[in-house]
Amino acid sequence: MKRGETITVTVERFGAEGKSVARVEGFVVFVRSGVPGDTVAVRLTRVSKNFAEADIVSVVTPSPLRTTPQCAYFGVCGGCTWQHLSYEGQCAFKRQQVVDALERIGGFPEIPVHPTIGSGHVYHYRNKMEFSFGVRWLTKEELEHVTAEGGTGAEADRFALGLHIPQRFDRVLDITECHLQSPTSAAIVNAVRAFCREHELSIYSTVTHTGYLRNLVIRESATGERMVNLVTSEERPVILAEFSACILSRFADTTTIVNNITTRKSQVALGDREVVLHGPGWITDRIGERTYRISANSFFQTNTRQAERLYDVVRRYAAIRRHEVVYDLYSGTGTISLHVADDAAEVIGIESVASAVEDARRNAESNEIHNCRFVLGDLKDRLADGGALPDGAPEADVVICDPPRAGMHPDVIGALRSMHPSRIVYVSCNPATQARDLKMLCDGGDFRLIEAQPVDMFPHTTHVENVALLVSGRNS
Ligand SMILES: C[S@@+](CC[C@H](N)C(=O)[O-])C[C@H]1O[C@@H](n2cnc3c(N)ncnc32)[C@H](O)[C@@H]1O
Repeated sequence: MKRGETITVTVERFGAEGKSVARVEGFVVFVRSGVPGDTVAVRLTRVSKNFAEADIVSVVTPSPLRTTPQCAYFGVCGGCTWQHLSYEGQCAFKRQQVVDALERIGGFPEIPVHPTIGSGHVYHYRNKMEFSFGVRWLTKEELEHVTAEGGTGAEADRFALGLHIPQRFDRVLDITECHLQSPTSAAIVNAVRAFCREHELSIYSTVTHTGYLRNLVIRESATGERMVNLVTSEERPVILAEFSACILSRFADTTTIVNNITTRKSQVALGDREVVLHGPGWITDRIGERTYRISANSFFQTNTRQAERLYDVVRRYAAIRRHEVVYDLYSGTGTISLHVADDAAEVIGIESVASAVEDARRNAESNEIHNCRFVLGDLKDRLADGGALPDGAPEADVVICDPPRAGMHPDVIGALRSMHPSRIVYVSCNPATQARDLKMLCDGGDFRLIEAQPVDMFPHTTHVENVALLVSGRNS
């Protein structure tokens, strides 16, 4: 097998991270955008000792799971890599990712993994989109056109507002539509692009660290509120007053407009300083019976309706009794704590980001919930060394944990084993690290893994959220 060679393969399955796997005499070929069941002619783009990578040249026989992507940018944009796969197929393969991780990494071959809970809305489900200003990525067709005219592409108009090209953080796909947020959001992107171009505003460069425009972040709540947040490298009051007036003249139902200013060199759309241009500077959203105040830099689950379903699974698995104390580890802005608070005697949330802890406390107050307290700190320090928990903190009956993708630190797992709650509900956005942690929790017989429930928070992506229930092994 050689790079550049064209061969015909049948895609067998999705592997880790949703990569499509085919085999040629046992040798693995990863086929970009292949669907299990496809027979495709592919061109090998990379051949290494253990595997090859390939791009589809033509689909010889399509898989019955193939469907037509709705988005014009499918295949170029890094956003929705599974739009060519039926939604039933997506849910089935997400479940399979969990099954595979539990079996291969966790060593749990016989745990019931329920069918994925699908998202009610498979388009327009995101409440937040972060667009970037940058140098426009020229598509294959555009490049061909430019070179046919005798150019190199360098002279083409390169102002872009859109989404980053996968693995090319220096290039932005200029998008005029995106089906992940509302059609109004796409219209705002187009209006902002036109405004910035008309005023000849410059784009911030992460190479030279010069220029003005960095990101446009749009948040829309299930309660009908909208925030437009322009992230820039400096404050320019005159142009921003015009910007605000332009947005309000076209999108009068925008409830707040803010300008976040940052001189950070990294590409994070967070401001060090914020100027409120219109409205209160925050919007409110609702998960279940609770309402939340969300500022430009607050973390909030991006699929609001599906977050409620996820939290309902957590609540069901936790099966909290009135007298029980719950620890919500990695509590963020306290949304899980508040969702289960009515069931418990007390909920203690622990979280390492100060602003998230402040948000959580404020959220508890505004929802008139008095049995939750939120502790600031790194869980490794808070729990692992016998714990620097608040004075008189009671022992946990139930622990809910929702760590970041990397999973839990081994010391936190050790601490959980010593704390020995009667139930642990483990929420994760990474089945591989979750399976690793579950194995560590169950080794030695302290806990038993009972079941797992995948939930799809991000249709058309390969990401899956999984909730696992562990019970104390000592009671068995
Ligand atoms: C996946 S989010 C979960 C947030 C929340 N449970 C929710 O549903 O919105 C993970 C959270 O863990 C926090 N975190 C990460 N590492 C931590 C650590 N070592 N100690 C405490 N919190 C941590 C992050 O700041 C983040 O808020």
